[in-house]
Amino acid sequence: MLLHGKKTKIMIETNFTEDIIEEINEIINIPAKKIAVDIKNVTVSFKGKRGIYTAIENISLTIQKGEIISFIGHSGCGKSTLMNTISGMATPTSGEVIANGSKVKGPGPDRGVVFQNYSLLPWLSVYKNIKVAVDSVFKQKTQEEKTALIEKNLKMVNLWDHRDKLPGHLSGGMKQRVAIARAFAIDPKVLLLDEPFGALDALTKSSMHVELLKMWNIDHREKTIVMVTHDIEEAIFLSDRIVVMNNGPAATIREIVDVHLPRPRNKKDIVHDPVYMEIHDRLLNLLIDKFSIND
Ligand SMILES: Nc1ncnc2c1ncn2[C@@H]1O[C@H](COP(=O)(O)OP(=O)(O)O)[C@@H](O)[C@H]1O
Ligand SMILES: [Mg+2]
Repeated sequence: MLLHGKKTKIMIETNFTEDIIEEINEIINIPAKKIAVDIKNVTVSFKGKRGIYTAIENISLTIQKGEIISFIGHSGCGKSTLMNTISGMATPTSGEVIANGSKVKGPGPDRGVVFQNYSLLPWLSVYKNIKVAVDSVFKQKTQEEKTALIEKNLKMVNLWDHRDKLPGHLSGGMKQRVAIARAFAIDPKVLLLDEPFGALDALTKSSMHVELLKMWNIDHREKTIVMVTHDIEEAIFLSDRIVVMNNGPAATIREIVDVHLPRPRNKKDIVHDPVYMEIHDRLLNLLIDKFSIND
């Protein structure tokens, strides 16, 4: 009852705020939120030995500035392909992606990417891995400014004491934190995370979720975070919306699930929240349903 009462109160407050925003917008005629990424009717096909394979087809999705959004779906359904159309590493066969107001034509510093395999330069120390990225993006900054930026981001992920180590001498979780610190150091407007925590043990994964949200909060929740995951709990804990994809070929968006859980979220508490349970059940049904179709 108590939880139910709390939930009802939050929903009423949210509706009230939206009403006011809508009214103001009507008067001054501006959109309430800024669009960070606009995926417009995107299809990606690959040419192979056996002909053309369409991975994703006619996908449209608008992502707001400051939003945390997850793509979830079975392996091979096209999550990375969709993500790569935002990063600029995959070119749509038809359709287009607009990121931060410009058509995506290739990778750019406004979009930072963290891959599952860390992608660190193995011959450079933790510090230098970040320095290389900072040097290439902030050519106009002074050396002191760049040093301060590297220090701030390494301290943020608790790796300052390990700054002289080579990636080969770090644990998987530490390497992943270097990759995240590097992506944050270049201060992209949009942070793209492709299964960033997939290879981590449960405890490290859990603390990385908290680190990620801490960094997002420090930045006044202005960074847009787009994440690929297989993990339902991770998706709910972190996201504002979860995009569930159909299996390929020609994968589309099956459903977009809103996560109406107030922030900050407490990992231990939210699992008992009826809203969490409802979302969890919905995602499970959508994903298990797909197994039964295929088997
Ligand atoms: N460069 C490529 N050339 C040919 N096929 C590709 C390429 N990239 C991805 N694919 C195919 O597209 C489909 C979607 O892949 P991907 O986006 O990596 O899936 P996910 O990230 O969901 O596991 C898969 O069938 C994969 O084999
Ligand atoms: Mg993938």
